[in-house]
Amino acid sequence: MTEVCMIIGAGAGIGGHVGKRFAQDGYHVALCRRSDQDGLDRMVGEIEAAGGSASGHIVNAVEDGAIESLIDTLEAEFGPIKVAVYNLGAQIGNRALADTSLKTFELGWRIGNLGVFRVAQKLFPKMVERGGGTLLVTSATSAMRGNAGQHSHAAAMGGRRMLCQTLNAEFAPQNIHVAHILIDSAVNAPDTLGKLLGPERFAKLLESKAQGKDEIMEPSAIADTYFHIAHQHRSAWTFELDMRAFTDTAWWNHPLDI
Ligand SMILES: NC(=O)c1ccc[n+]([C@@H]2O[C@H](COP(=O)([O-])OP(=O)(O)OC[C@H]3O[C@@H](n4cnc5c(N)ncnc54)[C@H](OP(=O)(O)O)[C@@H]3O)[C@@H](O)[C@H]2O)c1
Repeated sequence: MTEVCMIIGAGAGIGGHVGKRFAQDGYHVALCRRSDQDGLDRMVGEIEAAGGSASGHIVNAVEDGAIESLIDTLEAEFGPIKVAVYNLGAQIGNRALADTSLKTFELGWRIGNLGVFRVAQKLFPKMVERGGGTLLVTSATSAMRGNAGQHSHAAAMGGRRMLCQTLNAEFAPQNIHVAHILIDSAVNAPDTLGKLLGPERFAKLLESKAQGKDEIMEPSAIADTYFHIAHQHRSAWTFELDMRAFTDTAWWNHPLDI
């Protein structure tokens, strides 16, 4: 039976490239994002053109029941989910305390933190029954260090790191591997960083730091690491790692004011 890799948060950056990497090795890849059917169709088309198997799903992961019914649908249509990738950050934009309403604070927590809990609560019992599985959680600098304007984001991401450790404490001995993967730098991700900066600034960023210079992270290179972690021998699992470009410039030292 085909194994399924579910990616929650599949844009043209990390999520989409992780999908392409797993599809290369025979997984059916379920790409899920909140909007942009055309973007999903494009990624599915690219995977299929390369001989892989993929499907696209529009889902808003913060809606009640959305993650749970997504998992039910994917397992009924495509087979058991062997690998889940939770690729949503808690980004609600930089806001001072006075501009962070209770609702905004809670939204960051819902996207970044509660969503991981919901994936685990729905999927882990099934994985245990099947003998194992993997959850890869994309993290960010804010999981390790608070910063100006990051009340909601950093609180959600930092708490999520502890959630991953707690899930491992209970489920790693049952052969479920949770890896917390800290992306500690800017990524060549047009659907997230690209939208945050706007087309002109993003193009300038790529010109000055990508395109052969490799000073921001390329999602295809990140995807190779995700694939490797999901296939490690269980005597040597990675529970947490951080990745940055070779210039070793962490996110908060990255000049994005171009
Ligand atoms: N990009 C960076 O510079 C950077 C740096 C450090 C860490 N990270 C981490 O990397 C992860 C994101 O990867 P990426 O930036 O490369 O992005 P990506 O994989 O290109 O795209 C992520 C996708 O998540 C989708 N999404 C957002 N909210 C959603 C929701 N409520 N329900 C379902 N889908 C939703 C968005 O879809 P729509 O476009 O359809 O809304 C977006 O396209 C996050 O965990 C973030 O913290 C990114």
